[in-house]
Amino acid sequence: MTKICCIGAGYVGGPTMAMIAKQCPDVQVTVVDINEKRIAAWQTDDLPIYEPGLDEVVKEALGRNLFFSTDVDQGIRDAEIVFVSVNTPTKTFGAGAGCASDLQYWELCARRIKEVSTSDKIIVEKSTLPVRTAEAMERVLHSGQTDVHFEVLSNPEFLAEGTAIADLENPDRVLIGGHETPSGQKALQTLVDIYATWIPRERILTANVWSAELSKLTANAFLAQRVSSINAISALCEATEADIGEVAHAIGTDSRIGPKFLKASIGFGGSCFKKDILNLVYLCESYGLQAPADYWRQVVAMNEYQESRFVKTMLHSMFNTIAGKRIAIFGFAFKADTGDTRESPAIKVCRELAAEHATLVVSDPQAMEHAKLEMPELADEIEFEVDPCKAAEGAHAVAVLTDWKQYKELDYQRIFDSMQKPAFLFDGRNMLDHQALFDIGFEVYSIGKGKKTHLK
Ligand code: UDX
Ligand code: ADP
Repeated sequence: MTKICCIGAGYVGGPTMAMIAKQCPDVQVTVVDINEKRIAAWQTDDLPIYEPGLDEVVKEALGRNLFFSTDVDQGIRDAEIVFVSVNTPTKTFGAGAGCASDLQYWELCARRIKEVSTSDKIIVEKSTLPVRTAEAMERVLHSGQTDVHFEVLSNPEFLAEGTAIADLENPDRVLIGGHETPSGQKALQTLVDIYATWIPRERILTANVWSAELSKLTANAFLAQRVSSINAISALCEATEADIGEVAHAIGTDSRIGPKFLKASIGFGGSCFKKDILNLVYLCESYGLQAPADYWRQVVAMNEYQESRFVKTMLHSMFNTIAGKRIAIFGFAFKADTGDTRESPAIKVCRELAAEHATLVVSDPQAMEHAKLEMPELADEIEFEVDPCKAAEGAHAVAVLTDWKQYKELDYQRIFDSMQKPAFLFDGRNMLDHQALFDIGFEVYSIGKGKKTHLK
């Protein structure tokens, strides 16, 4: 029986390993983490991350060929294949602070693997890493006296949160990078065979290690760039009475452009986009490529502009003062179907509103606990109310910041009746029926569309 160990039981490691275990009953998968609470939670009905469909996948394999443990050393020692899926946040100190990846957790893992291994292993980079990290990894693994051989592969994960299970079950592609040596190719084939259990072989792409590493950063940079591009146009739409929905549809029907990822919004969030672009910027700069670095940095700058622009619209439309006004925030997660709030645009929006002394009431169906932790400095000032209708009671404005489906189905007449007048609604996700809201009596503002307002 092939034995796999995955170091890191987070948003990537947990679901990915659960899917491998489900699809390959003859492979034993052990997920290890230093976080005891997380490891315990994976073995209960209350999983540490919210992801539609994940419960069933875990339940099917847990205890059969899927195990969770805090014994990192044992997990590594027993495995033939070790996935490393630990966090690689943006560095907050020293050289490259604010841009480069913080590789300390990654290197600690490499050292641990070297320390405890007594047999040859395939090491798989699952975390998103700067190009040529595998080289550093190999140096650490093969440093000093050792008879054990490690073959490093890059197998970046492209799953998106909220659709992780569908993405893992039926991915557009799986990418595996390996060295062009006989042992590199043999290791690569071992991993290809595992994925081929449920993924058609033509969708399993192979490449050299550096290409695989760079492709992950590039994919996220391109996706984020699309969001920033459409958001840049949304600002122009508001100035010109063009409608961003119509523009996105018109350009998206060009098969070269395609319709996906063209939804204007308050901005992109999530743990990957900003971090990966800044990582790309840092890489470009460290190779002396200033123009490419500046080009990609602008994608992040555009995102920050969009978040602040939304707050400015709120402020200006509410007569340039929101001090003391109750504002209900509908949604704090960085997108629907996840409890994740990392880099959520809601953080910046709430901070800027709080700086104007607005009274904030935050509501979210899944992200309330994380929301509280994201803004510790405002914890005493912000009210948290899971029921959005209650959050809106007595409010001057509702701001929709996350595209949760349930926000479409609320009784907006009841919400309107319970609010201060004029009642403002800011749709930061362009997801509600603006005409219907206007007809109820709301002053409606959205992204990249003309406002619908009764005020003269
Ligand atoms: C992303 C990548 O999609 C995934 O392939 C990679 O593995 C990790 O990073 P994720 O961060 O989970 O996944 O979410 P994604 O669906 O890409 O959305 C990112 C952000 O962009 C969200 O805040 C979302 O609301 C926003 N977005 C997305 C838009 O504002 N408009 C769009 O059209 C699409
Ligand atoms: P991602 O979104 O990339 O999956 P997460 O932060 O959700 O990132 O998960 C990374 C996990 O890796 C965390 O649960 C963390 O405790 C774990 N981790 C970090 N360093 C180590 C280490 N040296 N050994 C074991 N687990 C680690």
